[in-house]
Amino acid sequence: MNSIAINGINLAYNRRGKGTPLMLVHGFPLDSTSWNETVPLLENTFDVIQPDLRGFGKSTTVETQYTVSDMADDLVGLLDHLGIEKTALAGHSMGGYIALALAKKYPQRVSALGLISSQAAADSAERKEGRYKTAADVAEKGVGVVVESMTPKLSADTRVQAFVHDLMGQQSKPAMIGALKAMAEREDYFSFLSQATCPIVLVHGSADALIPIDRAKEIKAAVPSARFVELQGAGHMPMMELAKETAKALQLLAV
Ligand code: MLT
Repeated sequence: MNSIAINGINLAYNRRGKGTPLMLVHGFPLDSTSWNETVPLLENTFDVIQPDLRGFGKSTTVETQYTVSDMADDLVGLLDHLGIEKTALAGHSMGGYIALALAKKYPQRVSALGLISSQAAADSAERKEGRYKTAADVAEKGVGVVVESMTPKLSADTRVQAFVHDLMGQQSKPAMIGALKAMAEREDYFSFLSQATCPIVLVHGSADALIPIDRAKEIKAAVPSARFVELQGAGHMPMMELAKETAKALQLLAV
C-alpha cells in the first residue's frame, strides 16, 4: 500500500487499473480490503483508488473529534496528491455518507456518485444516542462489542461473515469511536441530492439487514434521475456477496 501525509494523519491507499478514475470508499468499521473481490472486475474500465479512511486499515487517526466532512477532506487531499481533478466516487454505507459530504463540498471533483448499501437521511435522535452509547461501550470494553453485534447484520453468508468478523476485529478503538461520533453528527443529504447535477447510482441488496432497501427507494423517489440497481438476495456486503453484479452496477459510473 502507498500512503500520504495529510491533515495530521497518514492516509493509506491502493491504486490499480486504467480508465476513468473511481474512488471506492469503505464502510464502518471495515477497510479498503472490503472491495478486493470487486476491484479485479473494475480495473479494465477504471483507475481504481481504494483508500483506508482515517483510523481504519493502515491509515492513522488524530486524537481530536472529526466529522464526515473532515474524512471527505482527506480523500480530496489524496485526489490532489494523485493529480486527479475529477473522479467517479462510490461509497459503501458509511463510505456513502463520506462520499455525499465530498460531493456536496466539492461538486467539481465528482463525475458520478454511487451509493452502495447507504442512505441520505441523518440519524434519528434515538439512533444518534445509540451511537454514543456504542462509542462508550467500545471505549470501555473494546472493539469486540461492535464486531459481535454487527457480524450477523452485515451478511447471512458465512464466508462473508468470517471475513468481516476478522476484519472488524483488526480495527482500532479510536477509529471506531471517531467514526461512530462522525456518523452521529452527519447531516441529511436529501436536499443536496435533489439538486446534484452529477449522475447518481444506487446499489442496494434486497436483504440488507443493516440499512433496509427502503432507504435507497426513498432516494430514488426524491431523485428520479438516479439509477437504482436492486441486488436480489444480497445483504449489506454486496461487493462480496454478489461481486459480479455489483461491479456491473458500478460500471454505470463510467461516464
Ligand atoms: C456501515 O456499514 O458503514 C455503517 O454501519 C453504517 C451505519 O452505521 O449507519
